[in-house]
Amino acid sequence: MKKKIYEGKAKVIYKGKDPNTLIQYFKDDATAFNNKKKGVIPGKGVINNFISELLMTRLTDINIPNHFIKRLNMREQLIRKLEIIAIEVVVRNIATGSLVKRLGIEEGKILSRPIIEFYLKDDKLNDPIISEEHIIAFEWATHNELEEIISLSARINDFLTGYFYSQKIRLVDFKLEFGRLWENHDCTIMLADEISPDNCRLWDMQTNEKLDKDRFRQDLGKVDKAYKEVAYRLGVLSEKEFKKVLKNDF
Ligand code: TMP
Ligand code: ASP
Repeated sequence: MKKKIYEGKAKVIYKGKDPNTLIQYFKDDATAFNNKKKGVIPGKGVINNFISELLMTRLTDINIPNHFIKRLNMREQLIRKLEIIAIEVVVRNIATGSLVKRLGIEEGKILSRPIIEFYLKDDKLNDPIISEEHIIAFEWATHNELEEIISLSARINDFLTGYFYSQKIRLVDFKLEFGRLWENHDCTIMLADEISPDNCRLWDMQTNEKLDKDRFRQDLGKVDKAYKEVAYRLGVLSEKEFKKVLKNDF
């Protein structure tokens, strides 16, 4: 029996065999609006496991350090154990979501430059938006760590924008989480969590159809089909594996 360390809304974390590793299990559960809306998206965990594997691997290829080691099976991946920084980093290319609500910016406006925002990862406080000043003053991260997080986020955005663009998908915005890998006294900032339609907004280039969790948040229907569409376009699951996902046969 694997030892469960933490259960989040969409994933479960288990102890790995090696003390420097963890196992990340992807659930089909979906939540929105800080857990007020709950549901299940059939096959989501499998699809997110495969999509995140692909994108983390591509990021490793361009030297963006991240926690991914290898995929273990349909729903689990082996990851490095990091000291998670309790900040959600949101990168925006097109105005939508809370940016539009908070600042009255026109929906769908292409931003003159990408915007990086920070939110405190604290469900009790409803993940409030914070500034760099808060992060430094309250020592949630050091100045150097924050510079590194911003630089990595910008590189990740440039890379992923192009990657999705080649599959005729607009990367509208997304959320990242980072952690510290300690090796003796050296610390490396690494990308953690997942990159999937759960934490990205992805719009079809031609139709602007939403291919992400907004379909669940906004009750637009065909949620699992949208996730599958992204996986198909990225080429991460074979026809045969997809049939299994649909039949819940894994
Ligand atoms: P927002 O417009 O609601 O602030 O969301 C910005 C991006 O962050 C969007 O791609 C969805 C993602 N996100 C999460 O991954 N988790 C969250 O809890 C929230 C609020 C947003
Ligand atoms: N995952 C978040 C929650 O359940 C919010 C979201 O993604 O919309 O609260």
